[in-house]
Amino acid sequence: MRVLVTGGTGYIGSHTAIALIAAGHTPILVDNYSNSSPRVLARLEAITQQPLLHQQLEVRDQAALQQLCQQQAVEAVIHFAGLKAVGESVAQPLRYYQNNLDSTLSLLAAMQQVGINQLVFSSSATVYGDPRQLPLTERSPLQATNPYGQTKLMIETMLGDLAASQQGWNLTSLRYFNPIGAHPSGLIGEDPTDVPNNLLPYIAQVAVGRRQQLSVFGGDYPTVDGTGVRDYVHVMDVAQAHVAALEQAAHPDQHRVYNIGTGRGTSVLELIRAFEQASGQQIPYTIVDRRPGDSAACFADVSLARQQLGWQAQHDIVQACADAWRWQKQNPAGYADAA
Ligand code: NAD
Ligand code: UFG
Repeated sequence: MRVLVTGGTGYIGSHTAIALIAAGHTPILVDNYSNSSPRVLARLEAITQQPLLHQQLEVRDQAALQQLCQQQAVEAVIHFAGLKAVGESVAQPLRYYQNNLDSTLSLLAAMQQVGINQLVFSSSATVYGDPRQLPLTERSPLQATNPYGQTKLMIETMLGDLAASQQGWNLTSLRYFNPIGAHPSGLIGEDPTDVPNNLLPYIAQVAVGRRQQLSVFGGDYPTVDGTGVRDYVHVMDVAQAHVAALEQAAHPDQHRVYNIGTGRGTSVLELIRAFEQASGQQIPYTIVDRRPGDSAACFADVSLARQQLGWQAQHDIVQACADAWRWQKQNPAGYADAA
């Protein structure tokens, strides 16, 4: 399939491009580089040993999207493009609503105009809010606790409405839990532009000497060791879930939703130990106050993706930490180190 990948040079998009090529598909990457580097492209070509189709493009520009889709005979779309920092979304809600909603609306309108009916959308476990019962199934109650989460919920609602409006749509929302790790080559990985919000990139930057120590947000949660528990899933497994969603056999529901995680919870201290084991580096840390808005624990029931997509995670957290460390060690300053 010829697959338009929006946000294609971002963290998950770039790893998915490799999985698509490995499965025999042709990705066409577009990105406005607001949160990624075009240097990713040469790295992807080095990994896949083939030239890559790509274009700098603003996804809110519907006319440009339509032109590209027609020129490239696009058959399906994977929509990663979006802003994703929870704290930033609270401080700049309009920017988040504008970017995430406008881009999705213009993408869906462009697809309708040119007759593309298949989309895989990057949703998030954030749509469950503060979990009342674990593990989270796709039927668990939904609740947005910040503007970022609102955009994900609104887009899922939009996709449901669109699917109900007319026969023929084939729409999938993948609710990622906590993607971590990197491609095993160490050539691509997660490269936050600012101080990392997320745990694993922060740990990796401590390990490589860019930051002195990790602050562990809260040591008094009702969890195995008092620290927050999450469902960390290797980014190459997340990438593969998109291939599985694209290749899913015909299904009567026109908008389908799947949890993408491992089904296992890991505490902050357990992830630190896994990283230390994988890297041979010591990670100094201090336990500080809880981060506002954080839940004690969040992990997925992944049986629906296994049953309907034939997908399940293949990597464990030690492998993910080893891959994240290889990327960070080879590129201490991220893509700023790349040619
Ligand atoms: P990322 O920031 O690395 O990638 C997103 C890409 O989209 C960036 O390259 C950015 O430049 C691009 N982009 C943003 N707005 C755009 C626009 N209007 N036009 C063109 N390009 C645009 O993020 P990621 O971690 O790869 O996440 C991808 C998607 O998955 C996002 O939608 C995110 O909300 C979602 N998600 C991520 C996580 C996670 O932990 N990484 C968890 C759940 C959901
Ligand atoms: N944590 C620390 N120190 C840090 C960073 C994180 O102790 O420097 C802890 C957090 O308190 C949490 C765990 O590590 O217990 C994971 O935190 P992340 O920020 O990596 O991930 P979250 O689960 O909090 O956030 C992720 C995505 C969000 C999404 C949210 C809810 O990054 O986009 O899941 O699904 F909204």
